[in-house]
Amino acid sequence: MSTIAFIGAGNMASAIIGGLIENGFDRHKIWASAPHQAELDTLASTLGIHTTTDNSRALAAADVVILAVKPQVMESVLVPLQDSLQAKRPLLISVAAGINLHSLASWSGGDLAIVRCMPNTPALVQQGASGLLANDLVSASQKTLSSQILDAVGMSVWVQSEAELDAVTAVSGSGPAYFFLFMEAMVAAGSKLGLSPETATALTLKTALGAATMASQSDDSPAQLRKKVTSPNGTTEKAINRFIEQDLHNVVEQALQAANDRSVELCEELGAKSP
Ligand SMILES: NC(=O)c1ccc[n+]([C@@H]2O[C@H](COP(=O)([O-])OP(=O)(O)OC[C@H]3O[C@@H](n4cnc5c(N)ncnc54)[C@H](OP(=O)(O)O)[C@@H]3O)[C@@H](O)[C@H]2O)c1
Repeated sequence: MSTIAFIGAGNMASAIIGGLIENGFDRHKIWASAPHQAELDTLASTLGIHTTTDNSRALAAADVVILAVKPQVMESVLVPLQDSLQAKRPLLISVAAGINLHSLASWSGGDLAIVRCMPNTPALVQQGASGLLANDLVSASQKTLSSQILDAVGMSVWVQSEAELDAVTAVSGSGPAYFFLFMEAMVAAGSKLGLSPETATALTLKTALGAATMASQSDDSPAQLRKKVTSPNGTTEKAINRFIEQDLHNVVEQALQAANDRSVELCEELGAKSP
């Protein structure tokens, strides 16, 4: 079993560590490092893992290093670790938004196996959806291990290019907020129709969860499921027709294109300069 070091011990690291332990991963083979001892003490006492305020100490123990720091500090975290990384040559997995493989390779000294992952917020409740992209140095067994690590907080898919990872960012990375917005609109509309906000919220949340569960368990596509629950001249059809008149598909397409384009920009703003 590999030893895994998390550099950064915040929300995403805690979620993945919790998921790994719940899935039977040996807690004694997990390290986490971050600047503040108090945060680490909480993690050590709740999850029983090794912690340190010294990133290189965590790295020294590990054959997999998960980079779970904010994108803005990634360069300042990796550059001082370059010599240790080159000596130890672990698999690097980054969960940072907007930091591409080129930047990760450049700041870690190059020539290392690196996986760039785009997770999403529901990973915090072990219902995440992640896209994974590997560089050419990642072996088949390291790919399997990377999938296992991210699957501990949900599900993951492999993509073949940075462009696809920008699309993953637009669909699932930012996706939870789209559903929150839709829920927000349903709660407001339900309240206008006379329900209390509490009742409208409870009905909306359970309906979202029920619909997502049905769609996940069914062999039918979302479009087929939608047609099956839409009776001619019924209430659902009246509502769906309003969405179609307002060109919902086009609005969603434009929204995801905007997220995709911002992902490309962020990689340029936050990343290392291209050669
Ligand atoms: N949370 C999400 O839902 C989500 C979704 C998708 C992607 N991500 C990505 O996941 C990464 C982490 O996000 P997060 O939400 O977990 O952030 P977070 O809760 O703020 O955690 C960041 C961690 O990095 C630590 N840190 C800061 N500087 C450091 C350094 N020099 N060396 C080592 N550790 C350092 C912080 O310690 P202190 O608190 O002591 O400063 C903290 O433990 C980000 O890059 C983000 O893009 C997060």
